[in-house]
Amino acid sequence: MFLRHAWYVAALSSELSEQPLARTILGEHVAMYRDSTGRVVALADTCPHRGYPLSLGRLVDDQLVCGYHGFTFDCDGVCVSVPGQDRIPSKLAVRTYPLVEQGAWVWIWMSREEPDYARLPETPWLIDGEEWSVVTGAAKIDAHVGLLVDNLLDLSHETFLHQGSIGTPEVATTPIEVESDEEAKVVNVYRHMSDVECPPFYANTTGLRGRIDRWQDIEYFAPSFYKLNSRVAPVGQPPLPDGRDDHAFHMKIFYGLTPSTETSVWDFWALSRDFALGDAEVSNFLEKMQANVVQEDVDALNVLQRRANDGQEITEVSIKIDRGGLSARRMLMSLEEAEIARELAKK
Ligand SMILES: [Fe+2]
Repeated sequence: MFLRHAWYVAALSSELSEQPLARTILGEHVAMYRDSTGRVVALADTCPHRGYPLSLGRLVDDQLVCGYHGFTFDCDGVCVSVPGQDRIPSKLAVRTYPLVEQGAWVWIWMSREEPDYARLPETPWLIDGEEWSVVTGAAKIDAHVGLLVDNLLDLSHETFLHQGSIGTPEVATTPIEVESDEEAKVVNVYRHMSDVECPPFYANTTGLRGRIDRWQDIEYFAPSFYKLNSRVAPVGQPPLPDGRDDHAFHMKIFYGLTPSTETSVWDFWALSRDFALGDAEVSNFLEKMQANVVQEDVDALNVLQRRANDGQEITEVSIKIDRGGLSARRMLMSLEEAEIARELAKK
């Protein structure tokens, strides 16, 4: 089942233009585009006439013209023109989806209930500017979203799957601390590494050499948003009591986890850094390196899903490091229960 009562990343801002984009989100075909004022719009990607994808049509004066028989829809999903007749059947309207553009990402509300704007994550770090430089990307994984949640909540895999970029021995060996807030649906995983190797990901972008202190503080907002607060600094230079942290380099690594189907998920990512601001060379390096890291995850999760598809029973033996992932799973189960209760209440 899908958790519809949540905001999901639907697209990178850079993906949307006056050329409609087709994307399957929570099993629904969605067409997204920008109108002439730059506003982002999402409509059901199915013409109610004969079911042709509206995303294969084109925008004319901010109206989407179906590429099959020319039925035309405005940005509110209202059919405004049918070729060959004046009367427009009222059933011809298409569903619209609330979208919110925030910096590098566009969020969508997939529930038919009113959008809950209080649950929309705030992401000021995703605005590329004087405080943060941002690079983004997206990848599709042929795996259930749960495998991506497991992956992101247990970063000890960096040591083995992402060796040579972000993985160093200490990521796997340093103990974690886990907190979970059942009410807010947030899981925190803290890993503070002291006097450890500086991986190429940071050595090549910060200028730090040799040993460093490296913090990985995860915030997972179930079901769809993940933020890794990364701090790297010379050894023995913690933040000052007043919060100033001038010796450190900070990066926030964001993931939007957006199920496409039951067995595929969009992995939207963004890196925001507070150093080397506006440096195109650093941006290019990070973008390439992160795209490689994400591809390594994609390959691994595809393998796991193929195994699951074989139908053989998979048994899992969990250890201490899995506490974050297990908390997240519990939270997702309670969200599923809430979703079922909400559906039943409607009947
Ligand atoms: Fe990974």
